Amino acid sequence: MIYSRNRRLRTSPAIRNLVRETTLTPHDFVMPMFIIEGENQQEAIPSMPGIYRRSIDLAVKECKALFELGIMAVNLYMKVPDGLKDNTGKEAWNPNGLMQRAIKAIKSAIPKMVVMPDVALDPYSIYGHDGIITNGQIDNDATNIALAQMAVSLAEAGADVVAPSDMMDGRVKVIREALEENHFHHVGILSYAAKYASSFYGPFRSALDSAPKDFQEIPTDKKTYQMDFHNSREAYNEVFKDIEEGADIIMIKPGMPYLDIVAKIRAEIDLPIAVFNVSGEYAMLKAAAQNGWLDNDKAIIESLTCIKRAGADMIFTYAAKEAAMIMQ
Ligand code: PBG
Repeated sequence: MIYSRNRRLRTSPAIRNLVRETTLTPHDFVMPMFIIEGENQQEAIPSMPGIYRRSIDLAVKECKALFELGIMAVNLYMKVPDGLKDNTGKEAWNPNGLMQRAIKAIKSAIPKMVVMPDVALDPYSIYGHDGIITNGQIDNDATNIALAQMAVSLAEAGADVVAPSDMMDGRVKVIREALEENHFHHVGILSYAAKYASSFYGPFRSALDSAPKDFQEIPTDKKTYQMDFHNSREAYNEVFKDIEEGADIIMIKPGMPYLDIVAKIRAEIDLPIAVFNVSGEYAMLKAAAQNGWLDNDKAIIESLTCIKRAGADMIFTYAAKEAAMIMQ
């Protein structure tokens, strides 16, 4: 005789709802957005169907639509014109830069929206690196000083949370100190603590034209600062150091192929965990759906729910708006 029948709790939608362990809501999402100069400009990104680069006015309009759908946080990236790129990244802390103007515009139109700009030099770098180059090397400590200036400038523009995505050592501490010195006690740091050197960032880099450039001896990948995807114990070291340095939220990135890391870190820390469902994950899903090989809506909801089940408190995802619309 079989007494233990697990199927009893799967017999109807109502009973499945009762025993459901993970639920997804639009409040879990952070929408990444790409901003360009101009007015009334909207450019499609071929490898990311449904995602656009938008001028500030249209980005503000989009933010209003997101907010109405329950998505109350955005993560901002700039497409920097080539003429403004150099090796110092100084455009990143131009008080009148595109990022600073975008933050101000969004915060003044929708003050309740949590605005989380990216903090990293790659879109501003002629080399396409997240760091300043000194003698052919990514210069960790010089980069940290630049990142701190950038973070303060974004806080001045009205950022709620700054999100360093560069993986330099010690930058959370340097950024925290700079924010405190400038009286931005309330501005949080979401640290990309365990960010892997991943091929899944391809569509993002083409959207911003920010991929590492081929300059003789300078590496064309980010393996000297982003993590090696063969490793998982190393992630603890990265996460614990960033917490010690003052991070408020810990990011693990990419998402779906890295959910083992999410689950392991979840078991060890009580700080909120953010997971980035990155551009390449989105591109794969969209390509399969466009071919009729996957059910777009079901695959989106399943992917995001599984990221949450693994331990994410919040999910950065290009599918945020679509997911919120599907869930309505
Ligand atoms: C760069 C940055 C990257 C992403 C976010 N910030 C790319 C990289 O590290 O090269 C990737 C996001 C995505 O692929 O969706 N600081």
